[in-house]
Amino acid sequence: MIIGIPCEVETDEYRVAITPAGVRELAGTGHRVLIQKGAGEGSKLADDAYVGQGGVIVDTTEELFDQADLIVKVKDPSLEEVGLLSERQMIFSFLHLAPQPDLAARLMESGATCIAYETVELDDGSLPLLTPMSEIAGRMAAQVGAYFLEKMNGGRGILLGGVAGVSPAKVVVLGAGIVGSNAAKIAAGMLANVVVLDKNLEHLRSLHSYISGRLTTVMSTVLAIEEHVSTADLVIGAVLVPGARAPKLITREMISGMTPNSVIVDVSIDQGGMAETSRMTTHSVPTYVIDDVIHYCVGNIPGAVPITSTFALTNSTLPYIVEIANQGIDQAVQENSALASGINIKEGKITNKAVAEAVGKSYYPLSSVIPFRLSPGSEFGISGAVF
Ligand SMILES: NC(=O)c1ccc[n+]([C@@H]2O[C@H](COP(=O)([O-])OP(=O)(O)OC[C@H]3O[C@@H](n4cnc5c(N)ncnc54)[C@H](O)[C@@H]3O)[C@@H](O)[C@H]2O)c1
Repeated sequence: MIIGIPCEVETDEYRVAITPAGVRELAGTGHRVLIQKGAGEGSKLADDAYVGQGGVIVDTTEELFDQADLIVKVKDPSLEEVGLLSERQMIFSFLHLAPQPDLAARLMESGATCIAYETVELDDGSLPLLTPMSEIAGRMAAQVGAYFLEKMNGGRGILLGGVAGVSPAKVVVLGAGIVGSNAAKIAAGMLANVVVLDKNLEHLRSLHSYISGRLTTVMSTVLAIEEHVSTADLVIGAVLVPGARAPKLITREMISGMTPNSVIVDVSIDQGGMAETSRMTTHSVPTYVIDDVIHYCVGNIPGAVPITSTFALTNSTLPYIVEIANQGIDQAVQENSALASGINIKEGKITNKAVAEAVGKSYYPLSSVIPFRLSPGSEFGISGAVF
């Protein structure tokens, strides 16, 4: 198979979708790996390092898309990139289609098979390709929140951990999954007063038992959110319903009731954001202010630490890339239900239920576009994907 790794085009995105070690694994089993010139530069991975492991450098995006059977990216493709895709191709990338109906429609028109990192889901409900980026984004959420609470950065001028005799800042984390638990642990480590809300009691329980006594866990209800957000210095948005738009847990009214110069870091922005006032920002201009509340809504937070995140991402994606390359997608999904749940679009049809609902299109079970060897009754209980 010919695998193409383009340069990332999103503003301030320094990650790349494969490392030289990954190229070695693929090239060593007979695949041809094309790397766009300079694709690894942001992660300090030189073209020569890829060539040394069997990669082939191509000059342009057009050349790469023209030749590759499988395009592997980090961030969702631009509309220009989608214009280069055709029905013979596959794209394996973060897609975040729920808040992007236009992108979904264009990908459907392309006819390409579109596999989203963020909906690859294991039987226990965990999301193995989102997890490493969520760990990084969660940890960074606490540190960027602390930064924007500083006076000269527009914040209230409060130190997250306080000092002896002076109260620490209050950090409210909405969501106790991977982003939320990582954000909470770092904020608690910085000695802030941390409150974590989730509607999943098991997630609250495991966070509580891990870090007992250093944070408070609260069942998420509208009343509890209202109470805690109104007294927060920093709110971190970390909720997710896989494939779907993020639930709007913070209303415009709650924002206007927040403490002036407090901060919201809405990590859930890639799925549309958990506050009614959230809109996507970039690392170049990461914040804006509504009702005196600083909003930080960067959609590619891990892009700021590519030396960590390129390696963390590719550690997780490589086994799936190898499987797709060795077997082809139709064969690979027969035995790998996690990969099957990653397919969002095939033959112009949306095959993930949550994505279809979010973008207002018809949903087609994956079994209607890929003949499964298993009987149709054997549904893998994966949210959003029924076979
Ligand atoms: N902006 C970025 O750069 C970036 C990077 C990584 C991840 N993310 C995003 O962060 C979000 C969280 O990811 P994750 O890996 O932590 O997901 P996760 O599935 O591990 O956790 C999500 C949590 O949200 C909770 N939740 C869902 N609906 C809720 C509700 N109505 N009230 C309270 N809690 C609710 C779930 O119970 C779960 O514990 C996702 O949208 C993900 O795409 C963004």
